[in-house]
Amino acid sequence: MKMPRIGVAEAWRDAARGFLQRNVPPEALIWGDTETAPDLFGGGELRGEAREVTVPKGFVSMANSVVWHSDPARFAKLYAFLWRLRDAPHLMADRGDRDLAALRRMEKNVHRCQHKMKAFVRFREIGDPDAQRRSFAAWFEPTHHTVEPTAQFFARRFGDMDWRIYTPDVSAVFEDGALRFVEDCPRPDLPEDANEQLWVTYFQNIFNPARLKIKAMTSEMPKKYWKNMPEAAAISELIAEAPARARAMAEAAPTLPPARVKQAQAQQARFASSWTRDTAALVAEVDKCTRCPLHCNATQAVHGEGPTSARLMIVGEQPGDMEDLQGRPFIGPAGQLFDEIAKSAGIDRGQAYVTNAVKHFKYVARGRRRIHQSPNRTEIVACKPWLEEEIRHVSPRVIIAMGASAAFALTGSAAPLKDRRGRVEHKADGVAVLVTYHPSYLLRAQDPEVAVRARDAFQSDLARGWELAQRH
Ligand code: URA
Repeated sequence: MKMPRIGVAEAWRDAARGFLQRNVPPEALIWGDTETAPDLFGGGELRGEAREVTVPKGFVSMANSVVWHSDPARFAKLYAFLWRLRDAPHLMADRGDRDLAALRRMEKNVHRCQHKMKAFVRFREIGDPDAQRRSFAAWFEPTHHTVEPTAQFFARRFGDMDWRIYTPDVSAVFEDGALRFVEDCPRPDLPEDANEQLWVTYFQNIFNPARLKIKAMTSEMPKKYWKNMPEAAAISELIAEAPARARAMAEAAPTLPPARVKQAQAQQARFASSWTRDTAALVAEVDKCTRCPLHCNATQAVHGEGPTSARLMIVGEQPGDMEDLQGRPFIGPAGQLFDEIAKSAGIDRGQAYVTNAVKHFKYVARGRRRIHQSPNRTEIVACKPWLEEEIRHVSPRVIIAMGASAAFALTGSAAPLKDRRGRVEHKADGVAVLVTYHPSYLLRAQDPEVAVRARDAFQSDLARGWELAQRH
């Protein structure tokens, strides 16, 4: 029974149902997806009375993935198991069944391949960038036949542009909102993309030499995909430099605070220049704060920064290691990423007021390193009067809450961030609070697809918050 390369899921399902209804045993069939596979029934009618058959839902969903596997025996394996299932539907739940285990492995391989495709396809612009619908193309070499089942993901994501994903097998073409598949397109000669350097820079930024695990990295981003990914150009160099960079990071690791207090406080005074006399009193009070134990180990309180006339206020969690030492919010790694994304979202950081829910750095000391610890609810509540005072001084039109601690401090709700991100909520006094990720979440994400998706979402939240603040 020859299977088509396009639309194989429906074709296999219809064929298998027909054979099963007419009691055709697996050994009477030869399945294949190549030109050489014999078409046993020659496209003719199946003989015999069809009887109703029911197939467990779990099998249908598994088969819908397995049909895209590259193993030429996949159709035969599926049908042989389906045949056994007729009289023993409980087999679907039998973990010891070898046939089922083999199919589950194939299903998993296909899912993994779809996941890689979503993460590693890199489009290049092939049309006029000023055209009403811009045009992009990518070359990708999946391990399994995953273009067709994954194309809807790209159609949802890039619905307002035309794009093509070429593969050595079946290619996906999305034009004017319509998706189709084409067989055997030759490999196109794709131009370099202006965004390529951006990918390289982004990858260099999120690469942490101290956390380098080559095995995990090559398993998450297998080498076979590297050649079509611009950012992979940086990988070998980053791996080679990693030990030296990690050593340098360890040597530069901050020592514990007290010796630096004076210097840091002098810096703090310089950056507090946008405060009026009224707000200067608040700064002095926060500096003396002992409302929770966090002041004991921190170098200093870190105050908000930015014009008190700002329409947009951005609230993070608490100062990190560098912020604690230098007395300024968002200047360490998370702050630098925040700056970069805020800039691409059209935010001028100098026009926004940036602060934290908690003003002292909470950490545990491990050797010479100070490891960040999230503040607990009591600490957030203890610090809340200072945040409220800042809000009173600045009177922002909109506040962006970055991360769960800020969202809790501003709204009193500790609901999970995943259910709230991108939503506009409100403070008890009605001020709009747009909830988004904390930039350190983007830094921590190991999975490139998750990182890219989170970065896109974060950038669009920042842009939206900025836009709402100008409007109100
Ligand atoms: N993370 C925060 O939430 N705030 C900072 O100031 C730095 C890192």
